[in-house]
Amino acid sequence: MNPSRDVAVIGGGAAGLMCAMEAGKRGRSVVVVEHGPRICRKVLISGGGRCNFTNLQTRPENFLSANPHFAKSALARYRPEDFLRMVERHAIPYHEKTLGQLFCDRSAADIVGMLERECAVAGVRIETTCEVSNVTRNGRFELHTARGAIEAESLVVATGGLSIPKTGATPFGYRLAEQFGLKVVPCRPALVPLTFSRADREKYGELAGVSALVTAETAGTVFREKMLFTHRGLSGPAILQASSYWGPESEIAIDLLPGVDLAALLRERREAGDRSEARTIVSRFLPRRLADRWFEIHNGSRPAAMLSDREVDAISAGFHRWTVKPAGTEGYEKAEVTAGGVDTAELSSKTFEAKQVPGLYFVGEVVDVTGHLGGFNFQWAWASGYSAGQYV
Ligand code: FDA
Repeated sequence: MNPSRDVAVIGGGAAGLMCAMEAGKRGRSVVVVEHGPRICRKVLISGGGRCNFTNLQTRPENFLSANPHFAKSALARYRPEDFLRMVERHAIPYHEKTLGQLFCDRSAADIVGMLERECAVAGVRIETTCEVSNVTRNGRFELHTARGAIEAESLVVATGGLSIPKTGATPFGYRLAEQFGLKVVPCRPALVPLTFSRADREKYGELAGVSALVTAETAGTVFREKMLFTHRGLSGPAILQASSYWGPESEIAIDLLPGVDLAALLRERREAGDRSEARTIVSRFLPRRLADRWFEIHNGSRPAAMLSDREVDAISAGFHRWTVKPAGTEGYEKAEVTAGGVDTAELSSKTFEAKQVPGLYFVGEVVDVTGHLGGFNFQWAWASGYSAGQYV
């Protein structure tokens, strides 16, 4: 292993490889140090194995951060169309699933192969199964690895977040930031299923497998997508999205019948003398098991013709504003990403260099920028990696 490089990148994931190839194209000698047996393990399992590699509708509003403006510069500099051009150049077949989400037709391995080829052409050296035990700095950065020391002028930390530890996730990047005096915004699992309290699990646990289109609102943010009941709580895109905004002790308000005016409908059926039970009417819009269970929990169902105004209002409120107070989340084992991370106030939004430590860069998920579900996290990895790659 050549012990002296212009640039060392710790972490052979999406952001690290993008940064490495860009730096390599500029003629910098680059080594990527990955502690796992292979690169991009998260890319390989992403999008159900098909990698939702970007989102054509990417906007700064699709990201959470203590500083919502931080992501703007990189996102404007490297757009979904830029990544798509590379995908097309490599003749990788893809499709738009929904809402601008682009997936591989075949497999996420296509994206990994593309990154590998781009890195090879740019002369990037990738060292896998190479653990960095510590980093010191004496003018240049010195990485102490199982295969000996590597010296570099610039150090890029692209170690990702804490989710799915079996893919190689470690807190190494956060520790390194702290070692060099950078603040780290406390981390928490995001895009993660939420768990029921014991009482709610008893009430709703039997609905595992039932899904419905809902709106889920927490902390003033609303998502309209599918929700799924699990044995332990709630999941599905609407809940994963809401989970990124959710904090312990707070509630999630769920509209189980978005776009339906249930009160008006029940009143209309009552005036028409409809003898159908309320749950039959509701189950025209919701899975039967869910409607049945709701009425079972709430004193049973009665024919529409017999409902009082109070009953109509209570049923309507129950379905349109079901308030759940989750007990917690399923944690990093099930989270798609980590919210929090290296404080953006410490970094240049243009170069990703630490303001107080020249030559030290942080890119990708290790930074306190977290995307919504739908290809935004990879777009952040590409955009931040690309931007830093122009300067390292
Ligand atoms: P990433 O985690 O990709 O890479 C970090 C690398 O650093 C890893 O290879 C790791 O082994 C290595 N590393 C860590 N510590 C190290 C150390 N001490 N020394 C050396 N190497 C070290 N996003 C999206 O946009 N679309 C999608 O479809 C999905 N799907 C998806 C599914 C699942 C199951 C998960 C868990 C996540 C997603 N994501 C996603 C999120 C996406 O995978 C994630 O945001 C990016 O991979 C982040 O890229 P990074 O390069 O920052 O980290």
